[in-house]
Amino acid sequence: MKIIETVAEFRQEWANLKELESLSLGLVPTMGFLHEGHISLVKKSVSQNDVTAATIFVNPTQFGENEDFEDYPRDMKSDLDFLDCEGVDIVFVPSLEEMYPEGFETSINVGSIATRLEGKYRPGHFSGVATVVCKLLSICRPDRAYFGQKDAQQCAVIMALNRDLCLGSEIVVGETIRSSDGLALSSRNSYLSDSEREKALSLSSGLFAARKLWRSGENASDRLRSVVLNEILSGNSEVPVEIDYVSVADKNTFMEIDRIEEAGNAIILVAAKIGTTRLIDNVALV
Ligand code: PAJ
Repeated sequence: MKIIETVAEFRQEWANLKELESLSLGLVPTMGFLHEGHISLVKKSVSQNDVTAATIFVNPTQFGENEDFEDYPRDMKSDLDFLDCEGVDIVFVPSLEEMYPEGFETSINVGSIATRLEGKYRPGHFSGVATVVCKLLSICRPDRAYFGQKDAQQCAVIMALNRDLCLGSEIVVGETIRSSDGLALSSRNSYLSDSEREKALSLSSGLFAARKLWRSGENASDRLRSVVLNEILSGNSEVPVEIDYVSVADKNTFMEIDRIEEAGNAIILVAAKIGTTRLIDNVALV
């Protein structure tokens, strides 16, 4: 596995490999502190492409001023071991200066989808994500790029970006990977104490309960939202919880839906702070 820190080196390495024969490239962008969720995307890429590149870059422009950019968990050595074991060919680990050299002022405005849900609670977040992903796709020009359904709205933003700016990659979405008790894997789970982790389970159990109710015939979004809210707010845990939103939304536009008329179009999403850790999760209504 080759570790590369500059754009020029990445382009040269990929050009050298490509010259040998016609190869396909899969790209897995990450912010590191890798877990099985990331690795599931890596495995998918390795199985679908001749060459797989992963990127590790904690992107400052997608963090708000009071968010956890400085504290975001990092463990480069373990990440590189993980990727090497999975058969990744190239890891791109650019510095801040490599990605945002002096004079860098471009940013991508992703439109109305970025004003809802995550976009509303994290102003500027999706612009930061879209700008860095656009840059990574432009540097690496992958045939396929892999993203997780765990960040459903991010996937929609990236699909729109790729379509609108003709970036030319196929965007592949991998399913959410959970621990055996249901908690969606996230690098930020490492912030949770034992009691907070216990409380965090209410996000996934609430979503599963709402999906079960929907499967039994309930179409009204407010009833489904109540199930999730009750699950999170019930119990007498000492852990402080602050819910940003519970939403039943269209899976493409992320606009609220009052009544679910058609199976397969809706998704239930939740964002909440458990203690000081902000977590998100979602399930599709299928
Ligand atoms: P990061 O949070 O490191 O996630 C990298 C990729 O892994 C994203 O596509 C994310 O959706 C996916 N992922 C995270 N947890 C997952 C889980 N439990 N199951 C399946 N996939 C999961 O998302 C980002 O980084 C950044 O915003 C990035 C796209 C790299 C741009 O900076």
